[in-house]
Amino acid sequence: MRSESSVLIITNGLAAKSILLDRTLYSRQKPNAWMIKTFLIINPFTVSNNEYRKEFVASIFKMLSELYKPDNYKCFVEIVQRNIDERMILNEAVNLSQTIQIIVLNIFIKSFLNIDASNVLLNELPTLINRLWIKKNDQVSRTQILNLLTQETGNFSGSTAWQKIRRIMQDHKSSMMIELGLSDLDEEIGNALNIVIPGYETMWRVVFYTLLELIRRPILFNELRNSTSVELLIPCVKETLRLYPPTKSIYRQNIQSGQEIRIAIDQIHRDIGVWGLDANTFS
Ligand code: HEM
Repeated sequence: MRSESSVLIITNGLAAKSILLDRTLYSRQKPNAWMIKTFLIINPFTVSNNEYRKEFVASIFKMLSELYKPDNYKCFVEIVQRNIDERMILNEAVNLSQTIQIIVLNIFIKSFLNIDASNVLLNELPTLINRLWIKKNDQVSRTQILNLLTQETGNFSGSTAWQKIRRIMQDHKSSMMIELGLSDLDEEIGNALNIVIPGYETMWRVVFYTLLELIRRPILFNELRNSTSVELLIPCVKETLRLYPPTKSIYRQNIQSGQEIRIAIDQIHRDIGVWGLDANTFS
């Protein structure tokens, strides 16, 4: 454990686990409160209401369990193919991270919400979200995101999955308003970023880093391409999650002392005491 200004940094896996499991002493909502202003989101990351969290998470689990249908897989492949083809026609150098962001956002919105997102949304949303991660009070990007999502409102409201999430939020609206000290939550409830941020922001990073590691290992890459099962892919993705965790840090605040805590997931995942001397190697 060490301290960076007033924030306590946890670099030990077991210490991190005990903090994460203790929901009564450590708050997730306080350190994440900035997301309410920046992204206008009031999902379980920013609201502590346990009933709301349970319903929200259960609804996402249900959506996830429905993803593994052969038809969905066919649709993902088509989305990837279409996006690659479009970029090849332009005959320009491909920006890999940007291309993966667009493809993963496209797949996420199609598979989770069954929405055919517009090209404008797919091309602009990733950049705007990135800008807000870097500069949390960037009002221009924030307004642009909201305008973009407002233009797509019809699209999102046609999605049964998104309607379900909104219904859950609506049901808990009054207790959440009291908790957050807000007089109105309609704008936040209507904001699809409540689901897009936790899902897409994590997933594109996993795809990106897995691909980077595989490009450096052509034999393994080829083996994966020719494989019909996920048996070989799963350990590759797990190793990517270890070396390049999409959530590098998890924040908590001690409710009694007010102590802010940063759990350094990236350091814990490369601890040589746990992983051995080759902790920094993809293996
Ligand atoms: C590889 C992909 C993913 C990674 C690495 C990831 C990572 C995480 C982490 C570290 C947390 C805990 C954060 C904290 O306690 O402060 C979390 C919670 C959560 N994630 Fe993800 N996530 C991923 C995919 C997704 C997807 C696809 C969705 C939804 C579409 C999602 C929705 C959520 C929700 C709702 C919670 C709160 C759960 C709870 O409070 O019990 N995540 N995720």
